[in-house]
Amino acid sequence: MFIHRRPGWLLPASAVTPEALVTGRRKLLGGALGAAIGGIAGGVPSAQAQWRLFSGPPAKMATLAPLAAKSNGKYAPGRATTPEKAATTYNNYYEFGTDKDVLAPAQALPTEKWTIKLDGMVKTPRTIGYDDLLKQVSLEERIYRHRCVETWAMTVPWIGFPLADLVKLAEPLGSAKYVVFTTVADEKTMPGLHASFYPWPYTEGVTMEEAMNELAFLSVGMYGKTLPPQNGAPIRLTLPWKYGFKSAKSIVKISFTDKRPTTFWQALQDEEYGFWANVNPGVPHPRWSQARERLLGNDEMVATQIWNGYGEQVAAMYANMKGERLFV
Ligand code: MTE
Repeated sequence: MFIHRRPGWLLPASAVTPEALVTGRRKLLGGALGAAIGGIAGGVPSAQAQWRLFSGPPAKMATLAPLAAKSNGKYAPGRATTPEKAATTYNNYYEFGTDKDVLAPAQALPTEKWTIKLDGMVKTPRTIGYDDLLKQVSLEERIYRHRCVETWAMTVPWIGFPLADLVKLAEPLGSAKYVVFTTVADEKTMPGLHASFYPWPYTEGVTMEEAMNELAFLSVGMYGKTLPPQNGAPIRLTLPWKYGFKSAKSIVKISFTDKRPTTFWQALQDEEYGFWANVNPGVPHPRWSQARERLLGNDEMVATQIWNGYGEQVAAMYANMKGERLFV
């Protein structure tokens, strides 16, 4: 099995780094560390410089279609919805760059004729078209809180359907224990893929029990429209009780397996980004506290809640787990 090992001096970038550190890192990239990365890549421009080359002028904005769905009021977020502009312009999508402003490059994401492969331990492996899938599920709107391990948070009206409905359609074998999500890796439009020290494609995983939990959601829209590319068009995971990096964007494959997967961030830095990654204000990330969070839109700082406030729905799943690093 390929195990990705980063050199010790190479910090993972901003999705997982406080902003002050990121700013410092950018300065460094212009200097000695930048030269070191260039050296690793054999004299080609540093990864950051390559992203800059790809970004170019803002692309034409992707067309978003109106999407109507009945609101499911069961999960009242207890705080104001984040302004759409804030949630759709401050993004983590490393395939398009390590900054938050991936809006322009992400517009190039080709989302037409999208398909999702369902494979591994299923009755019959197959590929399902996005449009075909939507005919087999009922869409609803859920307002969920989203908490990034970087300590920013947002509250978003997602439109989608329970992940459990997809699992049922996939017909997994009784022996399947985990669900693995693989996201799109399109070299033509995604400059980040040229940073070869990342273990592309971006993958994430949950247990079958987590996948069947009532909160686990596949989102295809937000704010009454189809998902914008920068937020993970056309289909992404939304797991509100876990840190945001678990919510994989632009999914192209869903696999069932009996082996726990090593996910993207785990492969980079397991000590900092574990498999479970459940939100807990009492368990700090090795490099910074998780006690409070900054709300996108007004920058208000508020206390973080264990399980991101969704303990009633999820805590029981972890009650008897021994020896697992359940948080961060
Ligand atoms: N999915 C992919 N494919 N690539 C990414 O870089 N970033 C993750 C997650 N899903 C990421 C991803 C992280 S770190 C977070 S916090 C959320 O997406 C951010 O989602 P948002 O940009 O819609 O707020």
